[in-house]
Amino acid sequence: MIDTELAHKATEEDAILLKAVHPTGSKLLRYVGSKWRLKRIPVVGVILSDAALIREVFMDKENFTKIGKGASSALWTPVIGEYGLVNMDGEEHLMLKRSLASSFSNKVCNELVHRVFSTYHSELKERLLSGEPVDIVQEVAHFAYRTLWELIGLPQNRLSQENFDIAVTTLRSVTEGITVTKKNLSARQIEQAKARLLFVEELARETYQNDNDAVTIPGLMKQEGFSEEAAISVVKSLMITGTETIISALPRMTALFIKSDYISYLSEHPEHVKTGIDEALRVIVPTPVAARIATKDIVFHGAKIRKGERLILSTVEASRRYGDFNPFQELDKNIRGLWFGAGVHMCLGLPLAIAEAKELATLLAEVHKEKPLEVIEQTSNDKGHTGSFKKLIIQCRTS
Ligand code: HEM
Repeated sequence: MIDTELAHKATEEDAILLKAVHPTGSKLLRYVGSKWRLKRIPVVGVILSDAALIREVFMDKENFTKIGKGASSALWTPVIGEYGLVNMDGEEHLMLKRSLASSFSNKVCNELVHRVFSTYHSELKERLLSGEPVDIVQEVAHFAYRTLWELIGLPQNRLSQENFDIAVTTLRSVTEGITVTKKNLSARQIEQAKARLLFVEELARETYQNDNDAVTIPGLMKQEGFSEEAAISVVKSLMITGTETIISALPRMTALFIKSDYISYLSEHPEHVKTGIDEALRVIVPTPVAARIATKDIVFHGAKIRKGERLILSTVEASRRYGDFNPFQELDKNIRGLWFGAGVHMCLGLPLAIAEAKELATLLAEVHKEKPLEVIEQTSNDKGHTGSFKKLIIQCRTS
C-alpha cells in the first residue's frame, strides 16, 4: 500500500514543476480542467481535459490533423525541416514511421539502453552507496544524450570530443518559449533555434554521407531512398524529443518514488518496476498537451468545431483526475498510456523511454535496499518546454 500522505505531498511537489515553466498556461489548463471536459477558450482553442475525448481525437485521422496554424507543423517545420515525424501527417508520415520502426523495437531499445547504462551503472551505484550527493538531472541528461547518440548511430570518433552539458543545454533551449497559446515562432526565434541545431545538422549529414551499409538511422533512410535533408530533419527531431522528455520524466519519477517511499516497496519487489514507471508517468505527463487542427466543420460531443480550429488535448489534466501517485490503483483503460499519445502519432520513442526508466529505477531500488535514499535538494527549472528539475540531489542516508 502507498502512504497516502507522502504520496499526496510528492504529487503536489511534482505539479509545481509545470507551474514554474508555464505559470499562466498551467493555471489556465488546471482551471478549465477542473470545470469542463471540453471548453472553447478564445485565442487558445478548444481545450479537452477528458481521457476518453482525447483518445477519440488521437485516433481520428479523418477529422483532425497535426498540420495547420497552431499545430505541431507550424511550430516545428521552420526549425527542423519537413521530415521530423512530429510535424507530419498522411502517407508520408506513415512511410517514414514504418522505416524507423525497426530501430525502435522493444528488443533493440532494451539491449541498447542496457549496454549504454552499464557504463554508468557500477560507478553511479558506488557513488551513491559511498554517501556522495548525486544530481540525478545531470546523470539522466548524459545518459539520455549518449543513448540517442548510439541509437541514431552518430560518429563514434566524435563522441569523445562532445561536451554533453553544452549539447544538452543547447538542445533544450530550442523548445524554450513554446506555450499553450503560441501558434507559431517569430522569425528571430526560428533563426536562433536553427543556429543552435547546426551541430546536430553537421553530425547527421556526416552520418548520412558515410554510411553505405544502413547501420545507422540516417544510413537506413538513405537505403530506403530518403534525402539527406529528410534524414537531418529526423535526427534533429529525435535529439530534441529524446532529451527533453527524458530529462523531464526520469528525475521526476525518481523524486516521486523516493518522496512517496514507493522506493521501499520497489526494493523488495523490483519485478513491479514497470507498474511504478507507468504510474509516475501518469502523474508527470512529460508532454502535458498535444494539439490538433479540425480538417472540416464538425460537431464533436455537442460542440461545433470549425474547419481550421485548434484543439488542445490536455493530457495533463485528464491524468490529474485519477488522483495522487498510487501504483496500486487500477486505472481506467482510457487513461492508460495516454501520456504517450495514441493512434498513428503514438510516441515512437516509447520503448526507449521505458527502457531508460527501467534501468534507472532498478538501480535506485538496488541502492535503496542497501542504504535508504532521500532527496536532499531540489530546484525547479523555469526554462524549457515542459516541467522539469534544474537540480535534484539525492543521497543515501548516513545514519
Ligand atoms: C517519457 C518520455 C516521453 C513521453 C511522455 C513522450 C510523449 C509523446 C507524445 C504524447 C507523443 C504524441 C504527440 C501527438 O500525438 O501530438 C509523442 C510523439 C513522438 N515522440 Fe515521444 N515521448 C517521450 C519520449 C520520447 C523519446 C525518448 C523519443 C525519441 C527518441 C520520442 C520521439 C517521439 C517522436 C518522433 C514522436 C512523433 C511520432 C509520430 O508523430 O508518429 N519521444 N511523444
